[in-house]
Amino acid sequence: MTTDYDTIALLYKKSKELPFRRHIEAYTFFNLLDDLTGKSLLDLACGEGFYTRQFKQKGAARVFGVDNSEKMIELARQEEASQAQEIEYIVADVLELGKIGSFDLVVAVYLLNYAQTKEQLFKMCQSIYANLKPGGRFVTVNNNSEQPPASYLTTEKYGFIKSVDEPLTEGTAIKHTFKVDGKKFSFNNYYLSQATYEWAFQSVGFKEVRWQKPIVSPDGVRQESQEFWQDFLDYVPIVGIECLK
Ligand SMILES: C[S@@+](CC[C@H](N)C(=O)[O-])C[C@H]1O[C@@H](n2cnc3c(N)ncnc32)[C@H](O)[C@@H]1O
Repeated sequence: MTTDYDTIALLYKKSKELPFRRHIEAYTFFNLLDDLTGKSLLDLACGEGFYTRQFKQKGAARVFGVDNSEKMIELARQEEASQAQEIEYIVADVLELGKIGSFDLVVAVYLLNYAQTKEQLFKMCQSIYANLKPGGRFVTVNNNSEQPPASYLTTEKYGFIKSVDEPLTEGTAIKHTFKVDGKKFSFNNYYLSQATYEWAFQSVGFKEVRWQKPIVSPDGVRQESQEFWQDFLDYVPIVGIECLK
């Protein structure tokens, strides 16, 4: 159904060094997450564990990572072997996951944009909801469906661009091409409208849904300039989402 991350795992890991990852993606995400001390966390589509490890470093008590790419989980386990943090990783498809526990927080950075249909999005949201305690929160960073394709090239200076072959309709593939250390790699994710996302969150039972525009860290502004980041803030390629059970 989706891009095979087994073939791009190392390059994807390298792309986490791009400045926008730290200064916008991670900064926006951790702002939404707030204090993790003592919390239990389920990281869906955890990839090679870029965020999974940081949750433990930020005080989470119990952290569990799930991804359907064996290669991504292999990289995550290698890091765990070289520096043990007592993080458990499993290879599984979120679409088929069901309930594996009861967590304070479920996170899934860039998972939902792999749903190609509203039925798949609904199933992913069901897995997320099933693994949250009552009062628990789902927090994610996702492709922003609302970004107009005419602005897709404005992110080239941050190390990536999106492209589409047709007008955006439910299920349209959006190609993401990253350039890291002079090497390019691509993967597709899929357009579903913000209305479809709202429908899926509400249909599985989430009480409140909040959309968060990207924010830049003060360090990011110091190291580059406000002007450098302005296209990212104006055209909003990615978006934070918070849902309350
Ligand atoms: C863009 S990467 C993000 C990885 C990680 N969250 C991060 O931010 O570094 C997307 C990940 O989603 C995983 N993925 C896509 N569809 C999935 C599914 N249905 N179940 C589990 N993992 C999935 C891919 O294997 C890949 O590792």
